[in-house]
Amino acid sequence: MKALAVTPRKKYSAHLRDVPVPDIGDSEVLVRSVRAGVCGTDREIHEGLYGSAPRGVDYLVLGHESSGIVESVGRSVHGFEKGQYVVRAVRRPCDGCANCSAGANDMCSSGNFSESGIKELHGCMAEYFKDESRYLIQIPADLGGVSVLLEPLSVVEKVLRQARTIQQRLVWRPKTAMVIGAGPIGILQAMLLINEGMDVYVAARSAPGNLKSRLAESIGAAYVSTSCTSFENIVKQIGSLDFVVEASGDSSMAFQAIDAAGNNGVVCLTSITCGNKEVSVPSDKVNLNAVLGNKVVFGSVNANIIDHYNGVRSLKKFMDRWPDVVNAMFTHRVPLQQYERAFESRSDDIKTTIEIS
Ligand SMILES: NC(=O)c1ccc[n+]([C@@H]2O[C@H](COP(=O)([O-])OP(=O)(O)OC[C@H]3O[C@@H](n4cnc5c(N)ncnc54)[C@H](OP(=O)(O)O)[C@@H]3O)[C@@H](O)[C@H]2O)c1
Ligand SMILES: [Zn+2]
Ligand SMILES: [Zn+2]
Repeated sequence: MKALAVTPRKKYSAHLRDVPVPDIGDSEVLVRSVRAGVCGTDREIHEGLYGSAPRGVDYLVLGHESSGIVESVGRSVHGFEKGQYVVRAVRRPCDGCANCSAGANDMCSSGNFSESGIKELHGCMAEYFKDESRYLIQIPADLGGVSVLLEPLSVVEKVLRQARTIQQRLVWRPKTAMVIGAGPIGILQAMLLINEGMDVYVAARSAPGNLKSRLAESIGAAYVSTSCTSFENIVKQIGSLDFVVEASGDSSMAFQAIDAAGNNGVVCLTSITCGNKEVSVPSDKVNLNAVLGNKVVFGSVNANIIDHYNGVRSLKKFMDRWPDVVNAMFTHRVPLQQYERAFESRSDDIKTTIEIS
């Protein structure tokens, strides 16, 4: 079968290669890959900045945003049937840290986890992939076509779940939230918070009138542009923010996010920033406001299996409420054979997918 692979840490090494269809063990499921989402992590792996191969081979099959259909099931697998849509959880536990042992490998303390399509485990950008049934999330048939959004959606589900857990330190009734960034993470986060009844501002650089601003407004968010008004003035005009989620990919916005939160507010940082950017920060002001405002700042990565199940429920609600917006997020579909096009940078791109079967 064909697989899209890289030689980890080698610049622009993505290539199609022939690999055997995986054999499945008794507790495993063979999945036919339908499509895979492409995000900044895949682009960084392709650029040689990130990624590692499974033990014993010198290549890594890409793909962590999966969507596929069950092809066959191992003898001891129950509850899975040929023809069912499934999505694969990305992370696997390390060898025994307290959190992985408790089923929270998204909170791994050792850092020795593996991740499919990223770190030491082949991904889903191949005609078939296999996994243990416990790492596969079943998707209702009517959501199959958009289920590739479940992986990024699980990330934003975790953000909200963690914020709610942390905010049990007080009476927290969040009314107003800001999401910084209008990429797939920002838009999915905004959908989730609006569904929870919050008034949501989505901040990004581009002037209004682009696809991202239109999608944000279609779900009822207020889109604000930092190229039209300074971020500081945007926040002053809004007033108090109960929840701020930073998802712009720009580390300098993390400090602005902390300052933007109001009293008792919570700030979640999600941007994965691999560069060496340095900025000067008004540290007295940011610190003072954080202390006097009882603010909490936390980082969040990956997601628990719970967040995937919550994500399936949310995806159903999003499709009931905003089907056109969800579908419009798929801006660029690339056949597997033309994978190079998936790594091109395009303006107004939201979610690029590689179409496999
Ligand atoms: N923590 C996790 O588990 C996890 C998982 C997946 C992704 N991520 C991270 O989440 C971040 C967002 O991912 P994505 O795929 O949604 O990104 P994306 O498609 O690159 O979108 C980034 C958005 O942020 C906006 N932006 C960039 N710099 C900005 C700035 N200085 N001020 C205001 N807005 C700014 C962009 O605005 P314009 O469109 O106007 O340029 C764009 O709307 C990335 O850093 C990614 O690495 C984290
Ligand atoms: Zn991704
Ligand atoms: Zn661990």
